[in-house]
Amino acid sequence: MPDKSAIYADNAATSFPKPRQVLDAVAAVLGSMSLSPGRSAHRFSLESSRLIFDTREALAEFFNCPDSSRIAFTCNVTEALNVGIFGLLGETLHPGDHVITTALEHNAVMRPLRHLEKTAGIGISILPVSGEGEVMVSELPRLMRDNTRLIVVNHVSNVTGAVADLEAIGRQKGEAFLLVDAAQSAGVFPIDVVRMNIDMLAFTGHKSLLGPTGSGGFYLRPGFGLRPLKMGGTGSNSETEIQPDFMPDCYEAGTPNTLGIAGLGAGLNFVTGTGLAVIRAHEQRLCRLFLDGLAQIKGVTVFGPPADRERAAVISLKVSGKSESEVAQRLDRDYHIMVRAGLHCAPAAHRAMGTFAEGTVRFSFGFFNTEADVTACLAALEIISGK
Ligand code: ALA
Repeated sequence: MPDKSAIYADNAATSFPKPRQVLDAVAAVLGSMSLSPGRSAHRFSLESSRLIFDTREALAEFFNCPDSSRIAFTCNVTEALNVGIFGLLGETLHPGDHVITTALEHNAVMRPLRHLEKTAGIGISILPVSGEGEVMVSELPRLMRDNTRLIVVNHVSNVTGAVADLEAIGRQKGEAFLLVDAAQSAGVFPIDVVRMNIDMLAFTGHKSLLGPTGSGGFYLRPGFGLRPLKMGGTGSNSETEIQPDFMPDCYEAGTPNTLGIAGLGAGLNFVTGTGLAVIRAHEQRLCRLFLDGLAQIKGVTVFGPPADRERAAVISLKVSGKSESEVAQRLDRDYHIMVRAGLHCAPAAHRAMGTFAEGTVRFSFGFFNTEADVTACLAALEIISGK
């Protein structure tokens, strides 16, 4: 049983708790059907195929994808981003080509890109961020080149909580392939792949979509192909030793994480049933309450956009005279408040915000946090800061 006195403020790492329906869905699937969809033709297998199909359809509707077969499941957003970045090589991206990304990217984007820079000779330009941690989309035209083939953008920063203006990027991307990392935004912010002109959307199931870890996927715009990262059995075209070239099978080799997909479907169902606007408004209220309170605590510096701007409830801060790990440990030990401290797998973001190499103390609130949680976090910080 979870500790009822604990305050979980680490939802950017993974959401907690999960809705009851998610727990029930995972348990029901584990106890009632075969977890091997699309292979055998018996009832239990067909039921799990239906579950996966329904989740794919629900995700397509949620992101306004024109065709649900353009959604493939992966085991996390990192895998989806790797399929995108490495899969484009030899298809849309060739040695010598140019890529634009931002100074707020997670290592799930930066490490594959740096690898291609070294091994395939691609050039990388970085969209700068403002002092308030927002991507400066106005700089995009200056960075675009004739051979810019790929733009990779983090929708919501896991360090500053800033929201990138995807519509503006989508309008200015020209012929470049737009890959969006929606790790922190899917399930809180509206995403419309058509309106935003997104070519590929990578998402995780276990953050704001409220599903289990090990679930996630991507949408790929019709007309684009990616080299699959892995090949193997798909349950389709089993007469041939050649990997299928149609979606979603070409990217889904191996028995899928049926349990994770069941949980993701239930999480998504909770999100749509509650209403994205309701979830967003609640998190925004908590974020404002926290930021307003922090402004009253001397010795606390906040990194990221102010409360009156579009931002997520992901708030990075420093307490003067205290190390990040000391603050996080005291929050946990003395106040049962769980946060993340240090570098948040996004070194360029910390460099841009001047918080490299110590990092920040990061609070991230989710739909199940309350105003009382935020007030308790503020009270604890006031004591810890000693001001
Ligand atoms: N990328 C996740 C985080 O920001 C794990 O904590």
